[in-house]
Amino acid sequence: MVEKKMDCVKIGLIGYGTVGTGVVKILTENSSLIKKRLGYDIVVEKICDIDISTDRGVKIDKSVLTTDINEIINDPEISIVVETMGGIDLAEEMMLSAIRAGKNVVTANKALLAEAGEEIYKAAHEVGVDINFEASVGGGIPIIRTLKEGLVGDKVEFIFGITNGTCNYILTRMTEDGMAFAQALKEAQELGYAESDPTLDIEGLDSAHKLAIIIPITYGVKVDYEDIYTEGISKVDPIDIKFADEMGYKIKLLSILKDTKDGLEARVHPVMIPFRYLLSNVNFNLNAIYIRGEAVGTILLYGQGAGMMPTGTAVVSDIIELSRNVISGRKKRVPPLSFDYADIKKVTPKSMDDIVTNYYLRFSALDKPGVLSKISGILGDANISIASVIQKGRGAGEEDVPVVMMTHEAKESDIRKAFDEIDKLDIISKPSIFYRVEDTTIKRGGRKDEWR
Ligand code: HSE
Repeated sequence: MVEKKMDCVKIGLIGYGTVGTGVVKILTENSSLIKKRLGYDIVVEKICDIDISTDRGVKIDKSVLTTDINEIINDPEISIVVETMGGIDLAEEMMLSAIRAGKNVVTANKALLAEAGEEIYKAAHEVGVDINFEASVGGGIPIIRTLKEGLVGDKVEFIFGITNGTCNYILTRMTEDGMAFAQALKEAQELGYAESDPTLDIEGLDSAHKLAIIIPITYGVKVDYEDIYTEGISKVDPIDIKFADEMGYKIKLLSILKDTKDGLEARVHPVMIPFRYLLSNVNFNLNAIYIRGEAVGTILLYGQGAGMMPTGTAVVSDIIELSRNVISGRKKRVPPLSFDYADIKKVTPKSMDDIVTNYYLRFSALDKPGVLSKISGILGDANISIASVIQKGRGAGEEDVPVVMMTHEAKESDIRKAFDEIDKLDIISKPSIFYRVEDTTIKRGGRKDEWR
C-alpha cells in the first residue's frame, strides 16, 4: 500500500471568542509566511462555538463552523485541537476528550492549567500526545518557550514577573496620577482590561495561576496552586505609594519565584522596587518578566500580556511547533513541562514566615516623646535592623503621625512578631503596615548593579 503523503496540518478550534478570532486571523492573514517557514499549510478544518452566526471580521468558509464538538474530536484528519474557550469545567472536559482521542492540544487557559492541570498533563502523558500553552502566561510574551528552550541549559536563580495587566494599569494610574483604587479600577473596566467581576485579577489569583504554570517548567517540581502565597492590590493605600515615591520606590504586583538554599519561594504580592529597576518602569497594562539565570545573567521580556493579536500570536506559535512534530512524526521533541513528567514531584513552597527580605514599615503613632525609641526598641529586640526612618509632622486636626521605616534584611516571622507587640502599644492608633522590598542596594553586601 502506498502511504498517502501529508500535504497540510489540520487543526480544530474550540472557542471562537477574542483569542480564537485572533488565532484564525493570524493563520489566515499570514498563511503564506507560515507555509514558507513550515513547508506545509495549516488548515483550520473546524471551528466550534455556541455562537456561529456573529461575523468576527475574518474570511473563513462558513462550512467550517459547527456547534458540535464531536465534529472536531471524531475527525481523524484533525491532529491538533486548539482550546480558546476559557472557563474551567467544560474546557477541561473538552480537552480531556480531545487528548483521549489522540489529539495534540494547544490551550491559552491559565485558570484550567493552574487549577486542574495535573489531570490534563497526566492524560497527555499517558496517551502520548503533546500539549502546548504559551499563551497562558504573559499573553504575547514568549516566556514559556524562553524557559523551555532558550534557557534549557541554564539554572534559573529567580523570576520576578509583572503578569497582570489589570493590576499594573491600576497601580500605574494610582502612582502617576494620584487616582484612588476604585477610580482606577473603574477606568480599567471601561477600557476592557478588567472584568466586571475583577476579583481574579485584583486579588492576585490570575498572577498566581500564571506562576503555578511556570514552576514545573522552571524547576522541574510542581506546587498546588493553593499553596502559593497570594495577596492582591485591593488594599494598597495611596499613602504608601506616596511614601514609596519619596524614598525612590514604586509599588508593583510581582510574582516571585526563587530557588533558595532552604526551599522554593513562590509568592504573589505587592512589592516596592527602586525606580532604577527596569521593572519599575513597566507601566499601564503592559507585562514584563525578569529572569536571572546562573549562566545567562539577566533577561527582561516585555510586552502585551493580553489581547486578541498578542495572545493569538502565542497560540499560533504553539500550533506551528506542534505542526512540526506532526509533520516529522515526532512527539514531545520538547516535553510539555520541559522535564519528564514522571520526574516532576510536588513540593510545598517556603512559608512566608521564613522569607528574608527588606521591609518598608509604616506605623500610625501619636506624636509624643519616646515614640520612636519604643518602636525601634521592639524592632531591635526582634532582630530587625533599621536602614532609614521618615517621620512627618502632624497635619492640621490629626492626632497621629505616620512613622515610616526601611529595614535591612529581616525575617518575616520577626516582622510579624514585632508588629503584634507594637500594635498593642497605646501610642499606636491604627494597625501597622508593611511591604516587602526588593532592593539590592540596601541588602548588606548588595551590589548596585545586581539587577535593574
Ligand atoms: N486578566 C489578565 C490581565 C488577562 O489583566 O492581565 C491576561 O491573562
